[in-house]
Amino acid sequence: DTAYTPYKVKDISLAEWGRKEIELAEAEMPGLMALREEFGASKPLKGARIAGCLHMTIQTAVLIETLIELGADVTWSSCNIFSTQDHAAAAIAAAGIPVYAWKGMSEDEFNWCIEQTLFFGEERQPLNMILDDGGDLTNMVFDKYPELIDGIKGLSEETTTGVHRLYERMKNGTLHLPAINVNDSVTKSKFDNKYGCRESLVDAIRRATDLMLAGKVAVVAGYGDVGKGSAESLSSAGVRVIVTEIDPICALQAAMEGYEVKKFATAVKEADIVVTTTGNRDIVRGDHFKAMKDKAVVCNIGHFDNEIDVAWLNNNYGHTKVEIKPQVDKYTIDGKDVILLAEGRLVNLGCATGHPSFVMSNSFTNQTLAQIELWANSENYENKVYTLPKFLDEKVARLHLAKIGVELDTLDSHQAEYIGVPVEGPYKPEHYRY
Ligand code: NAI
Repeated sequence: DTAYTPYKVKDISLAEWGRKEIELAEAEMPGLMALREEFGASKPLKGARIAGCLHMTIQTAVLIETLIELGADVTWSSCNIFSTQDHAAAAIAAAGIPVYAWKGMSEDEFNWCIEQTLFFGEERQPLNMILDDGGDLTNMVFDKYPELIDGIKGLSEETTTGVHRLYERMKNGTLHLPAINVNDSVTKSKFDNKYGCRESLVDAIRRATDLMLAGKVAVVAGYGDVGKGSAESLSSAGVRVIVTEIDPICALQAAMEGYEVKKFATAVKEADIVVTTTGNRDIVRGDHFKAMKDKAVVCNIGHFDNEIDVAWLNNNYGHTKVEIKPQVDKYTIDGKDVILLAEGRLVNLGCATGHPSFVMSNSFTNQTLAQIELWANSENYENKVYTLPKFLDEKVARLHLAKIGVELDTLDSHQAEYIGVPVEGPYKPEHYRY
C-alpha cells in the first residue's frame, strides 16, 4: 500500500499542548539549538530526505525540527508501540511534518507506520537517509525494500541494541550502507544510557505503581551503562539494590559501588522490584516468576521486550491478567500477584516520558552531526560502522556546559605539550574509557 497518508496521530487537537512543551524543551536542549544557530543559514542537510524511527517524544520533536531547520525533509515513526507522546506527535503533524505514531499501537500498525516513512510527499520520493533507534527501520529497508538501498547515503543508529545488529551485519557482509554508531559517542552512552536512566527509571515505576520505594529490595539485571544508571536511580530512592551480571568486570564495578551482586535466580526471590537492563534475551523466565514475592513489580528498561518471557506469563497465566491501568497489568501465579509494567517493553518510555530533555540534547546533537557528516561525505565511508571523531564528541559536551554553569579551565601551551595534546583538544586517546 503506497497511497499517501500525510500523517497519522492519536489526536491532532493535542498539538497546542505539545507545542508549549516543545518550547520548554528547547530551552533545555542547548546542543540542538546551537546547531540551529551554527547551520541554520548554510542548510547542510538541504536535499536530504531523512526517515527517522525513534521514540516520538517532545525531545524528539526538537530533534526533528532541528533537522528541518538544517534543510532536511523528514518523515517519522516511533521505534516502540508505547513510547509516543501523543501531544508531541500532534504538534509535529500540525507543523506539516509527516509523522506516523501514537501510544498503544499494535505490531501491525507499528510496521505500517515505519513503511509510511519510506516515501516522501505526494510525489512518493524515496528516503535517502536513515535515522534509526534499534534497527527496525534499517531492517525493513534492507530486508523488505532492498531496491531503495542504492538511493540512500547512510544511516545513523541511536542505541546499544541497534548498534549490535549493525556490527553483526558488518561481520556477515549484510551491512549495505555506511553507518554511524551514535550510541558509542561518549556524550551519548555515558550520559543518556546512564544519567538518563538514573532519572527516568524511578520516574516510571512511581508513575506506574505509586509504590513507596524506600526500604524495598530491587534486582537490577545487567550493570552496563543502563544498569549503572538504573541501580543508582533506585538506590537514590532508598531501595536496596542487588545487581546480577555475567561480565566479571561489570560485576566487580557493581560490588565496588557497594551493591550486592548475586545470581539472578537467588536474588529474584527477595525482590520487590525486578528490572532488566541487559539488552539480552530470556532474563526473567517462568521459574523466576514462580519464585517471586507477592506483588513483585517486574519491568524492563532495555530496548526490546524479549528480556522478560511475557509469552510464558500469557500462555500459562493469561487468564488471571487484570489491567490496573494502561501499561500496568497484574497476573496471579499460584496465589501470588506479579505486576508487569509496559508489557515488558522499555518502561521509562512506556510508563513515563523517557529521559529529560537536557540529556537527550547530548544524544541528538550527536545524531544531527552524524546525519550532516553522512549526507555531505558518504563517499568517504565504506559500508562499515563508524563512530564520530573525538573532537565532535568533545564539541557536543562543550555545547552543554554553559547551560548548567560549568566553567572549563584551559590548558596553557606548556601543559598541553607536557601531556601531549593540542590546546583545543581532543584531550584523550581513542582507548581512554571515561
Ligand atoms: P551494555 O552492553 O553497556 O550493558 C548490558 C549489560 O548486561 C552488560 O554489562 C552485560 O554483561 C550484561 N548482561 C548480558 N547478559 C546478561 C545476563 N544474562 N545477566 C546479567 N547481565 C547480563 O548496554 P547498555 O548501553 O547498558 O544498554 C542495555 C539495553 O538498554 C540495550 O538494549 C539498549 O539498547 C537499551 N537502552 C535503553 C535506554 C532507555 O532509555 N530505556 C537508553 C539506552 C539504552
